[in-house]
Amino acid sequence: MYCKKIAFTIIFLFIAAFSFAQVKTTVRSPNKNIELNFWLNDQGAPMYTVSYKNKEVLLPSAMGFELKQTMSNEALPALKDSLVVTASAQTTSNTQWKPVWGDVKEIRDHYSQLVVSLSQKGDKAISFNIIFKVYDDGIGFRYEFPKQKNLGHFIVSAEKTAFHLAGDHKAFWIPGDYDSNEFNPNITKLSEVNAEDPKYAANIFAHKFFDKDAVQTPLMLKTNDGLYINIHEAALVNYPAMNLHIDKSNFTLSSVLVPDALGNKAYLQAPAKTPWRTIIVSDKATDILASHTIMNLNDPAVIKDPSWIKPTKYVGVWWEMHVGKASWDSASGKHGATTANVKRYIDFAAKHGFAGVLVEGWNVGWEDWFGQYKENVFDFVTPYGDFDVKGLQKYAASKKVKLIMHHETSASVTNYERQMDTAYRFMKAHGYDAVKTGYVGHIIPRGEHHDGQWMINHYVRVAQKTASYKIMLDAHEPVRPTGLHRTYPNWLASEAARGMEFNAWSEGNRPNHDVILPFTRFMGGPMDYTPGIFQLELNYWDKTKKETIHTTLAKQLALYVTICSPLQMAADLPEAYEKKMDAFQFIKDVAVDWDDSKYLEAEPGEYITVARKAKGSKNWFVGAITNENGRSTNVSLDFLDAGKKYQAIIYADAADADYQKNPAAYIISKQVVDNKSVLSLKLAAGGGCAVSIMPVK
Ligand code: NOJ
Ligand code: CA
Repeated sequence: MYCKKIAFTIIFLFIAAFSFAQVKTTVRSPNKNIELNFWLNDQGAPMYTVSYKNKEVLLPSAMGFELKQTMSNEALPALKDSLVVTASAQTTSNTQWKPVWGDVKEIRDHYSQLVVSLSQKGDKAISFNIIFKVYDDGIGFRYEFPKQKNLGHFIVSAEKTAFHLAGDHKAFWIPGDYDSNEFNPNITKLSEVNAEDPKYAANIFAHKFFDKDAVQTPLMLKTNDGLYINIHEAALVNYPAMNLHIDKSNFTLSSVLVPDALGNKAYLQAPAKTPWRTIIVSDKATDILASHTIMNLNDPAVIKDPSWIKPTKYVGVWWEMHVGKASWDSASGKHGATTANVKRYIDFAAKHGFAGVLVEGWNVGWEDWFGQYKENVFDFVTPYGDFDVKGLQKYAASKKVKLIMHHETSASVTNYERQMDTAYRFMKAHGYDAVKTGYVGHIIPRGEHHDGQWMINHYVRVAQKTASYKIMLDAHEPVRPTGLHRTYPNWLASEAARGMEFNAWSEGNRPNHDVILPFTRFMGGPMDYTPGIFQLELNYWDKTKKETIHTTLAKQLALYVTICSPLQMAADLPEAYEKKMDAFQFIKDVAVDWDDSKYLEAEPGEYITVARKAKGSKNWFVGAITNENGRSTNVSLDFLDAGKKYQAIIYADAADADYQKNPAAYIISKQVVDNKSVLSLKLAAGGGCAVSIMPVK
């Protein structure tokens, strides 16, 4: 009793001390470049600002929530004003950790932290904390609801987090669809965003635009005075994804959480915490690409012995379906996943050193899987008659190649949830230790969205359950990643953006797609983009088509370096590679896991040049890519070890290469280089250049 009284007095004193204070609490990043201010305004509303080298990044921006009772659906007093600060503490932390795989072998986690405890007044008061971490390249903040007597189970009806930008910045955006992120990214001023305009929103998988002024994260911005700002989230668990609504009168972006079937946003039980809201900022575009802040904000790996997790380069029975040469279903007479065809891919993988072979269309159900919105589409244990599971298991093992399982759920997720254990047991019994999942279509349970809380929990359950079976995961059509691959390193990659497949059967990906994705989608984690298409003229497959895939062949090679992913497909058919073995050598040589990465030059939407050092090796790889404009660049190799000679093999666009007129024209040259060398690279329109640099023996 006595103790309780003392505690009460201390809290009371805190309330008295802080409640009238309009004093700002200031937190600076370790190098002092970033400054965060937090305060309660006259209405007791929590507010924050962010600046970078004294330039305004965020003007006073609101925070907070609207909540409801779970059972009665009655509103609780909103947590957005009339608040008092009951405690506030600042600390710093500087540690280092080693990712299981990634773009570097070690990551520094260095930040200044502010924890503010806030409360309403009165008997029914609800309290919550805001935790800010201020890094040299950005900030993250999250809300926490501690265990407390006035808050048990509750509904978040709205999150009131705002990002009040200082102007009408250039934005790299896709529409705030609740179900698909497979859009060509758009570049406009914030004031020009219009997600209903078909020229900004072409995507056959988009379900509905709920708000024409809303965009998805990661949102990349560039200010007139040269700041690069990226807004996203980290550690999205048990909460819906956040889209951003743009108020075009003052450029305030506000959090719009993806709703569930009832229109509610999140169901939480105190103690609970939200994902982190992240703002990465720099005056150098390359710093955005090099940032590990989103990963740092995620929890450490839960897999204690990750030795079974293997970054993988793979081929597969896949592109031949997308270009129409083969089909997923077996009745068509051109079934791709036949035993004989899979053996052909296994032979090719074994001959050229690929660890994996993906096979799609192996299980019954593909006759009516698309757009039917039916619950029982697939099981994940019944092969088509012409796919010999046991025979292929033996054959793959004899060639030391791993088959990669495919689970297309057709978005019937209840069906998949019921079958996951059976499906993973079947995989393990037949030698599979990696699965590609897929969520094409409208989600069942009906009314749920790909990016809502129910599905967020599903994706995490799949990561956990596959981990418990020692299965590696590649999710297609999930929510955009938020760094959870740190916690679940078996989750090698996601699609969650417009991948190569769109080049086969839609108007295609624009030539600037690949120089935007690293600033947007890749901020949250690796992508299974499936590069490596060599047959770039589509009329080879379909005489009615005049289009090419909108890159040159050299750019297809460079993508293996500019895209950082522990899972990379050589997506074209064996016969396409057999015709161009000299260029294919780069795909054979390139690594998928790295000791180091140097982001040499970059401008979102324009160009990117990256050099990476292969894990546990002295080999370096350079990738340079451009948009629809050709470009010349000089790459200094000063990152190489001093006094050592290396053989550089340069896979470049030929002088007459052009992504539309002559995409497949490339030249390969060799040069002995050292750390004083400078490579002069010429990139064609829609082109690129890939370089392997290996020590001279
Ligand atoms: C869409 C996926 O992104 C693609 O890779 C797959 O082949 C099809 N769905 C069929 O599952
Ligand atoms: Ca897809």
